[in-house]
Amino acid sequence: MKSILHIITSPRTDVSASRKLGNTVIEKIQEKYPDSIVKERDLTKNLVPLLEEKHINTFFSPAENHSTEQQSINAYSENLISELQEADIIVIDSPMYNFSVPATLRAYFDFTSRAGYTFKYDENGPKGLLNDKKLYIAFTSGNIYSEGPYQIYDSNVPYVKNVFGFYGVTDVSVFRAEGLSIPGIMENALEKGIESIVID
Ligand SMILES: Cc1cc2nc3c(=O)[nH]c(=O)nc-3n(C[C@H](O)[C@H](O)[C@H](O)COP(=O)(O)O)c2cc1C
Repeated sequence: MKSILHIITSPRTDVSASRKLGNTVIEKIQEKYPDSIVKERDLTKNLVPLLEEKHINTFFSPAENHSTEQQSINAYSENLISELQEADIIVIDSPMYNFSVPATLRAYFDFTSRAGYTFKYDENGPKGLLNDKKLYIAFTSGNIYSEGPYQIYDSNVPYVKNVFGFYGVTDVSVFRAEGLSIPGIMENALEKGIESIVID
């Protein structure tokens, strides 16, 4: 039995390509592991706040000194992190929004990138603390970034990989539905992305 965490990031719902790609990844994982349990973290609902000084002060102070407000900030962050800790497999929908990930995902990383939880530093430098997990990235974009003249703009997938790599999640597969805004390519782009899904 596998525990799967599905991180949803597109503000769009029914027409969202990344949700469709991510959902298909989930379906295929369930085909392989029929007893798996899926938990959804939809970052477009109950938005993770933008990082403020009170959050940083909480994250960088000992829990025993926390005020009531800080206790609740800490508990909120710990809850997000516990979902990552409990997952065997993480599926993240990662659409390209203005050359980056959706802002909701950036905010999520601000609340999950915490020393002692997802990484630590020792004499050898940083060390990820989320080990033995598999990450699937469902990337969608209007343009094409995996090859060709815009490859230099391929910021989204490397960024998500880097953050999770820092957390210790280094076993990563990426599925791309690209060219969703390019006539002649867009008509089959999502289908091609879906067909490329392989669960290892
Ligand atoms: C607000 C907005 C910004 C976008 N920015 C980019 C971009 O910078 N580069 C790109 O290739 N596509 C861009 N797109 C196209 C999306 O990446 C594409 O439509 C993708 O399918 C979005 O995922 P979604 O359908 O799950 O929302 C943008 C789309 C929207 C709505």
